[in-house]
Amino acid sequence: MNPYLDRCFSPASLNGLQLSNRFIKAGTFEGMTPSGYPSTALQNFHERIADGGISMTTIGYCAVEADGRLNENMLYMHEGIRAPLTALIDRVHARGVKVSGQMGHGGGFSKNRELTRKRPLGPSFGLNMLGIAYGMIFCDAMTKADIKALIQTYHDAALYMKSVGFDALELHLGHGYGMCQFMSPKTNRRKDEYGGSLQNRMRLPLEVLAAVRKAVGDQFPIIAKISLTEGVRGGLDYDDAIAISVMLDKAGIDGIITSGGTSTMNPMIMFRGGNMYKPMLAAEKHPLMKLMIAIAGPRLFRDYPYEELYFLEQARRIREKVQCNMIYVGGASTNESFEKLMREGFDFIQLGRSLLSDPDLPKQARLDHNYKSRCVHCNECVATIELPKGIHCTRFNDFSQEKPAQVLSTPTSNEQKSKKQNLA
Ligand SMILES: Cc1cc2nc3c(=O)[nH]c(=O)nc-3n(C[C@H](O)[C@H](O)[C@H](O)COP(=O)(O)O)c2cc1C
Ligand code: SF4
Repeated sequence: MNPYLDRCFSPASLNGLQLSNRFIKAGTFEGMTPSGYPSTALQNFHERIADGGISMTTIGYCAVEADGRLNENMLYMHEGIRAPLTALIDRVHARGVKVSGQMGHGGGFSKNRELTRKRPLGPSFGLNMLGIAYGMIFCDAMTKADIKALIQTYHDAALYMKSVGFDALELHLGHGYGMCQFMSPKTNRRKDEYGGSLQNRMRLPLEVLAAVRKAVGDQFPIIAKISLTEGVRGGLDYDDAIAISVMLDKAGIDGIITSGGTSTMNPMIMFRGGNMYKPMLAAEKHPLMKLMIAIAGPRLFRDYPYEELYFLEQARRIREKVQCNMIYVGGASTNESFEKLMREGFDFIQLGRSLLSDPDLPKQARLDHNYKSRCVHCNECVATIELPKGIHCTRFNDFSQEKPAQVLSTPTSNEQKSKKQNLA
């Protein structure tokens, strides 16, 4: 094996966390958390991923509070799920694999029917694109007190996640969700110190990073996923991503994951390949939402044909400017690409679709020097997110999850009550 390919399969440290190789499962919201509870399917999914030889799996989209969920079937961090979450993490650990949790908040983008607030909260008043069909047409602007409370919520969620057994935390700062809404000039029209210049728009994510750091301590990995570009006029673009990364680096982030696009305005940049318009339209059950996708879909789901390593050029510009670990994501699916990423100075590689199509990728790639993923980047798996059995590759299924996701342990009535509450 050549030294760079060899490096992919060699151990590495992420702020003291020993990882067995350079492959990390990318956060892919699994859709296996009915009413916000971890299911046996979620456990099986991550065990299967762990068996394939990855060094760290990521539980996708762990909302930091109940109202941070995009819909009511997403995990949110609270005491009521401690036992099943710990059990899941223990089972992955038993395989010598680490677990990262992606800390998310939808901000003003939500169709969560269990929302406790009147409206979802973002940086500024505006349309809640995800909620329109569900009667949640607008989002409100956070007050300073709301911002303070949100920072505390991140802090408490981080404390909880560390205590439950997560080995690393991933701050979701991209894809148009809550933090990204503050960072973006397109969605942040605030006139106070949280709006205006990029420095001001970064204030909340940096305060959140500081709060999470305070919660978990210096010797615990915190990484951040950003969008290199939002792909919309007036939104964040490639040069902003460099400035954002430098700020995160200076603030002590341990690694930056360079994704792109926004689920809200231009998702296809993130998932280059087959256009998701038709699969999403076919999967949507809500009649009004279906109509909205039919009308807005062709503009929302633009064509971005698949290219291997489609974020490399822009991610490389960030590599040159930061000291922290660089974690590449986006169209890495062959040994040739993995080797190239190591040669270019990336430290880790996150894998999304190629692992869904073949959870044994790390083991296979080690055996076959000419390894190429069998994923055809059709993006049909993205449209399975809200199906009862959760995400799966529609072409190759090595996960054997034929049944709808069942909760891991029946929540007690106290746990049910605590569902309604944020972390104490
Ligand atoms: C089914 C599916 C669900 C996803 N859910 C999330 C998510 O919850 N959070 C996130 O940051 N990215 C999510 N992504 C994006 C991936 O993390 C990754 O950025 C993207 O798939 C590109 O990487 P790839 O070419 O290796 O698939 C999802 C991707 C897929 C295919
Ligand atoms: S459905 Fe399967 S083949 Fe298609 S993009 Fe998803 S993982 Fe790849």
